[in-house]
Formats: sequence, C-alpha cells, structure tokens
Amino acid sequence: MNRRLEIHRADDGYIIPLSELDVSEGKRFQDDSIWGCFERLRREDPVHYCQNSAHGPYWSITKYRDIVAVDTNHHAFSSQQGVTIVEVPDKHWTPSFIKMGPPQHAEQRNTVSPIVGPESLTRLETLIRSRVRMILDGLPRNEVFNWVTKVSIELTTQTLATLFDFPFEDRRLLTYWSDAAVTTPKAGYAIDSWDKRSTILSECLDYFTRLWNERINAEPRLDLISLMAHSPVTRHMEPTEFLGNLILLIVGGNDTTRNSITGGLLFMSQYPSELRKLTDNPKLISSAVSEIIRYQTPIAHMRRTAAIDSIVGGKPIRTGDKVVMWYISGNRDEEVIENANSFVIDRKNVRQHLSFGFGIHRCLGRHLAELQLRVLWEEILDGGLKIKVVGEPERIASNFVHGYSALPVRIEA
Ligand code: HEM
Repeated sequence: MNRRLEIHRADDGYIIPLSELDVSEGKRFQDDSIWGCFERLRREDPVHYCQNSAHGPYWSITKYRDIVAVDTNHHAFSSQQGVTIVEVPDKHWTPSFIKMGPPQHAEQRNTVSPIVGPESLTRLETLIRSRVRMILDGLPRNEVFNWVTKVSIELTTQTLATLFDFPFEDRRLLTYWSDAAVTTPKAGYAIDSWDKRSTILSECLDYFTRLWNERINAEPRLDLISLMAHSPVTRHMEPTEFLGNLILLIVGGNDTTRNSITGGLLFMSQYPSELRKLTDNPKLISSAVSEIIRYQTPIAHMRRTAAIDSIVGGKPIRTGDKVVMWYISGNRDEEVIENANSFVIDRKNVRQHLSFGFGIHRCLGRHLAELQLRVLWEEILDGGLKIKVVGEPERIASNFVHGYSALPVRIEA
C-alpha cells in the first residue's frame, strides 16, 4: 500500500500544472500510473476542466458523490451525444438504448431485460457451472499460460453466445467484434481508421441480420435476437440501430466481465491474506465478487453532455459541455469508501461501488456478471486449484475499458 502511494506522488500526475492534467491519456491506464492523477484531482480539483485533450475540452468528475449526482440526473446530463469521451464521427454513429433518454430508453431496455430475469439466470447458472468446470479441467497443469485468453475471454464469450443463441463454434467472432467496437482507430494499429472499424462491424451486422431473419419467422424464444425481433418496440429498427444495440450488448457482456475475472485473480495474488480469508470461509465469495468489481472498475468512465446549465461541486457546467464521470476514481474516494486503495473482500458496505453506474442506465447485466464470477470462484475453491500469477499483467491502453490483454499464470498440480 505505502509503496503504491509513494509511486503516486513521484509520478508526473503530481508534478504537471493542474490546468494541463489530462487524465484521458490511454498510456496512463496501460502503465497503471493513473491512480496518482485521480488522487490529486479528488484532493485539489474534484470537478476539473481540461481545456486541451485528444478528445477536446471536457470536465472530469472524480468524487463518488458528485458522480452519483450526475449519473442520477439524466435531465441535466444526457447520454444522447455519446457515452464515451471519444467523439464518434457522424458517419459512423450508431444509436443504441444507452444513448437514449425516456421514453425510448426504457422501452428498449425492457424489451431485452428478460434475458437477465430470474428464469433466465436460473437456467444460466447451471450451464455456466458446467462450462466453468470444463474450462478449469481443461487448463494446463505445471505450465505457464495466459489466463485472459484461456479463462476470462472463453467463459464470457461462451455466456454471450448463449444470450444471443449465437452459433457456438463462431463465438470468438463476438470477441473480435467487441474488441473492434471499443477500439479508437489510430495510425499504425490494426484498426487505423473509422472506415476500417465500420467494415469490421458491418460483418457483425450481416451475421446478426441472418440470425434475425431466421428468428423473426420462428416462434419467440428467450434469446436477445428473438426478444428484439418479436417486440413491437424494436422489430422495425433501422440497421444502424440494430448494430448499435448489438454493440452495446456484446461489449456490455464481454469486456467488463472478462476484466473482472482477470482482475480477481490478480488481486488475490497481490493480497494473499484476502485469498486465505476466502479459502477459510467460502461464504465470503459473494462479497469478494463485489469487491473485485469495485477494485477493478472495468468501465473506467461514462460520459454525459450537459443539457442545461448547472453547478457541480461548485463549478459552473454550461449547456453542451462534455462531462466525464470517472467511476474508477470515485471507487477510490476515501470520503465514502474506507481504505479505498486496498482490496478487502469482507469490507463493510461492499456493494457500495460505482462500477455498474447509477440512474436509468445502471448496468442491465450486473446480476449475470456477478453470477459468472461467483460460480467461477466457487469452482476454483471447490477444486482446490492453486493458481499462481507468475508475471506482470499486460494492460490495455484505454481510458474506457479498464482491463488486461494478458496475465501469465501456472496451476500447480
Ligand atoms: C450499462 C458496467 C456487465 C449489459 C452499464 C454501465 C456500466 C456497466 C458502467 C453504464 C451505467 C451508467 O451509465 O450509469 C458493467 C460492468 C460489468 C457489466 C462493470 C461486469 C462486471 C454486463 C453484462 C451485460 C451488460 C454481463 C450483459 C448483457 C449492459 C447494458 C447496459 C449496461 C445493456 C446499458 C443499460 C442502459 O442503458 O439502460 N454496464 N457491466 N453489462 N450494461 Fe453493463
């Protein structure tokens, strides 16, 4: 802990003038040096204006209570101009229900919500448990492998394929499209233009349109495509809106849970006393799952746009301003969460975190995400698996998806 705070103070987040501090730079997330920047903003300028960034000027909201105030006031802070700090060019814009307000938002959300209702979750738990067992049984013993690809991506992609009733053998396409959807095009990278990104996503649309056409002519079923195809609210969506909702559901179900699965293993290795608490008392699993999701904060921010003039934390926000709620910072706010920089699986009020957001857009899939993590940890403990993290994680250079591309581990047989 102390070591971590020392690193914060030495990092340039504490040295550069506040007016020049831009917390949206992806490299700070990739090299894990972002914490000092947010700690400083929470102390010195909790509602901070950054004039110059790759994404234009924006406000950073960094304290827990201010974030809740913004997130729960959708009249003043609208998601309709986008939910990430990146500006998507008009030509590549795809509507989806997270970018809608009342009443369309609730109508579309309610259309797909049975997929995470009690009936569906009960069925999914049995399926997820059998898949978790298969995945864990199939892992190499006494050799190093990447936990991200073999477990985190595999489990979440299998679950997502079931939600869509998507051909199982093609499931890695979901991972591919999800990764493309959250990529901001950059010269020199695999996705180097918005056109390239759109080409990949149009393959996604074509594939799902075939599934839609099959399902619309069949009896209604409990899968995401059938739910949308048979609802009067969504059955006449334009293709761009269908694609937007697909991206929302694919990214929602994929990247977030994937990175919580990886983060959980990493944190248990960084805090062996917490792992011991869990092995001594498996009843703590549900609590540990919430703490993993808080500590990871898989979605680092959500963006809103001011629909009216208002005051947040004493600062005047003007109509049209871009407002970024940094959940990743609010989740480390010591005023609300005691000893917030530590991973403590049995902390008081463990469910009190921002990772799922608040207000009308609060995460639709949160119970499913928690279910996957819970079942995974139940099976790890039940099987007595000794999983050792044997190297540093590789982190993604993103200010939106807070996660990992690799975590080397070895299971000792
Ligand atoms: C919305 C996080 C898992 C589907 C959100 C939001 C966050 C979030 C931060 C926006 C909240 C806001 O704007 O106030 C997470 C995290 C997850 C997770 C941290 C895992 C640990 C899932 C899963 C699904 C899902 C498994 C499955 C389908 C959605 C959808 C929305 C959403 C559809 C949009 C809700 C709306 O606009 O009404 N999620 N999510 N999420 N999430 Fe999740």
